[in-house]
Amino acid sequence: MAGRYKSKLTWDDVTPKPVWLNRRQLLAGGAGALALGSIAGPAAASLGAQKTGYGADLEPNTLEEITSYNNFYEFGTDKGDPARNAHMLTTEPWSVEIDGMVDNPGSYSMEQILDGVTLEERIYRFRCVERWSMVVPWVGFELADLLEKAGVQEGAKYVAFETALRPDEMPGVRSPIIEWPYVEGLRLDEAMHPLTILATGLYDEPMPNQNGAPIRLVVPWKYGYKSIKSIVRISLVAEEPPTAWNKYAPREYGFYSNVNPNRDHPRWSQKYERRIGGGLFAKQEPTLMFNGYEEEVASLYEGMDLIEFH
Ligand code: MTE
Repeated sequence: MAGRYKSKLTWDDVTPKPVWLNRRQLLAGGAGALALGSIAGPAAASLGAQKTGYGADLEPNTLEEITSYNNFYEFGTDKGDPARNAHMLTTEPWSVEIDGMVDNPGSYSMEQILDGVTLEERIYRFRCVERWSMVVPWVGFELADLLEKAGVQEGAKYVAFETALRPDEMPGVRSPIIEWPYVEGLRLDEAMHPLTILATGLYDEPMPNQNGAPIRLVVPWKYGYKSIKSIVRISLVAEEPPTAWNKYAPREYGFYSNVNPNRDHPRWSQKYERRIGGGLFAKQEPTLMFNGYEEEVASLYEGMDLIEFH
């Protein structure tokens, strides 16, 4: 098979990027003919129009910035380590185990995950707890689509996520920096929110390994560490699941981790952030509540004390 989710077709110029990537990814699986048939027609134009408005006014960071300044501790703790080491991760084939309180548990291949899914480009502001931010044009689909495919059962209240753990391919996991594997979680309503996506690419690239290939979470109103990379398990559960950074330092990192300029990290303020790529003298910008997505997500937390539930 050709490289990861690549096709030999060269329609790039006439097809909107998300559609192109969608077809390319589908071609990697068995659904090639089907995808081609449906996308070559008028569907192509309407799919292009599905680029959503979130963050449309934001200027994205460059591909170079997005792929060279990363946090992916499985490959080392230096911001340059993931770009240096993540090529060791085998991302093809890949499957995600979906288990717990679902009607259709099992191992889902990437092809099954993408089957019937429309990939969209969404430009999201991405804010790290370490007070820097980037704007990334992700290509992905709503997590809700996959959860609906799996069939969420009554009683499920949270979604737990787990990253691959492969000591042979991940030099970072040989040191006990955090407890491996990296795990994360969302409340079910957060997971079902339309802003929550599973991303499989960025710009017109399949997801670079250092950014969490082949499939990673993006939750734009939360600090970056919630957006878990290279996911191998998604579990629907009744109780709040453990999360990697909360286990490491519960006072510093809560379960919710909503971007909140009013709640400082115990060791530093969260009131300002610096855009990566702005140069050495880039000015600090005020951090926005929920990372600027307040209108869309504030209702999820009505009546909650967001200092206590940080
Ligand atoms: N996922 C895993 N498995 N391991 C990690 O170390 N780091 C998190 C998050 N997801 C991390 C992870 C942190 S701290 C951040 S800020 C983002 O990934 C960084 O995503 P990016 O490198 O694509 O910008």
